[in-house]
Amino acid sequence: MKKILLTYWTTDGHARSISERIAARLESKGAAVDAVCLRDEQRSPAGYDAVMVGASIRYGFHHPEVQRYVNRYARELGSIPNAFFSINLSARKPAKNTPETNPYCRKFLHKIQWKPDLATVFPGKVDFPKYRFFDRIMMHMIMSISGGPHGKDTVVDFTDWEAVDDFADRFAESCSLGKD
Ligand SMILES: Cc1cc2nc3c(=O)[nH]c(=O)nc-3n(C[C@H](O)[C@H](O)[C@H](O)COP(=O)(O)O)c2cc1C
Repeated sequence: MKKILLTYWTTDGHARSISERIAARLESKGAAVDAVCLRDEQRSPAGYDAVMVGASIRYGFHHPEVQRYVNRYARELGSIPNAFFSINLSARKPAKNTPETNPYCRKFLHKIQWKPDLATVFPGKVDFPKYRFFDRIMMHMIMSISGGPHGKDTVVDFTDWEAVDDFADRFAESCSLGKD
């Protein structure tokens, strides 16, 4: 059975939901998946057969711990099948929904030492009732400037869950899952 590490950064939980969906998909193909939040542990990919890293954007950046992790383990990440996904709201726009056209993902991939085999960008979720005061004000501004929904009770999940499943399937293929 292939052992897969899926490690992610989340603030409001959406990256966790996406990670859980991917983990379930990989497990349905026979893998054993450890989903680990980077906030709890910076787990080494050593000893795993494949690894995926995911992170959401906040105020223009992936959390610094994500960059620290991928640089620290760049060699281990690159020595097994590997993949990266970024989550942000800018990716809800078709012109910004690939690793090459999404400014956050492009800049991140350019500055880190790891070059993922597979990379993608998922549009995230707006969840105003969940935000604390300052974040609510800022998100109201960001979303109104960028033409997105910004009412105080607004909850919109922009994630294309079929695209999440497709990415999990591409990753499974890249690590020959189900071919043992
Ligand atoms: C305070 C705050 C700041 C954000 N900043 C950005 C941003 O600069 N650019 C962007 O595209 N999305 C931004 N987002 C959207 C998040 O990336 C999106 O909501 C994502 O689904 C959050 O994932 P998480 O729940 O795993 O933290 C921001 C969200 C919040 C709450």
